[in-house]
Amino acid sequence: MEAAAPHDPAEPSANSTGLTVTSPEQMRELGRRLAKLLRAGDLVLLSGELGAGKTTLTRGLGEGLGVRGAVTSPTFVIARVHPSLGDGPPLVHVDAYRLSGGLDEMEDLDLDVSLPESVIVVEWGEGKVEELTDDRLQLVIHRAVGDTTDEVREVTVTGLGGRWAATDLTVLSA
Ligand SMILES: Nc1ncnc2c1ncn2[C@@H]1O[C@H](COP(=O)(O)OP(=O)(O)OP(=O)(O)O)[C@@H](O)[C@H]1O
Ligand SMILES: [Mg+2]
Repeated sequence: MEAAAPHDPAEPSANSTGLTVTSPEQMRELGRRLAKLLRAGDLVLLSGELGAGKTTLTRGLGEGLGVRGAVTSPTFVIARVHPSLGDGPPLVHVDAYRLSGGLDEMEDLDLDVSLPESVIVVEWGEGKVEELTDDRLQLVIHRAVGDTTDEVREVTVTGLGGRWAATDLTVLSA
């Protein structure tokens, strides 16, 4: 029997999986599947270039969570709260694209107050919201082909911290 590889202390415990999505509808479906893994207190960071599919995925996530109101790309609003239609957590959808500063500028949103009872999804949140919690799910969406008309996306899902250490993220590609 082989001993498990010793954990490298230089590497924070990260749990990661990659999947390929070939249409906007599949991206929504990924969001719906992701919703099943989420509960109040979870923070999800979405990265990827303009038009990668972050909002499309969040739309599916809102459907999966069963929240009120369609998830859209806000033009002026930075954060929108979608209350649950059932007894689940609300979805707080943040688009931080227009926020240039650090957590200071985010402070008005009181995300630290809402996080314990909400699922918070942040687009363009790198370097802005990490201080909220060490436990986060990070999704990076890449266009497989540079061509903006192409619908293939590579998605990398990484769970950081104890919250995600034991979660089987491969269920997302099932
Ligand atoms: N596989 C795919 N997944 C998601 N969206 C796709 C896919 N293929 C094509 N699209 C199209 O790409 C666009 C993605 O838009 P969306 O608003 O979701 O991107 P975004 O990452 O939120 O962009 P932004 O950075 O501007 O907020 C939509 O028009 C969608 O129809
Ligand atoms: Mg968007």
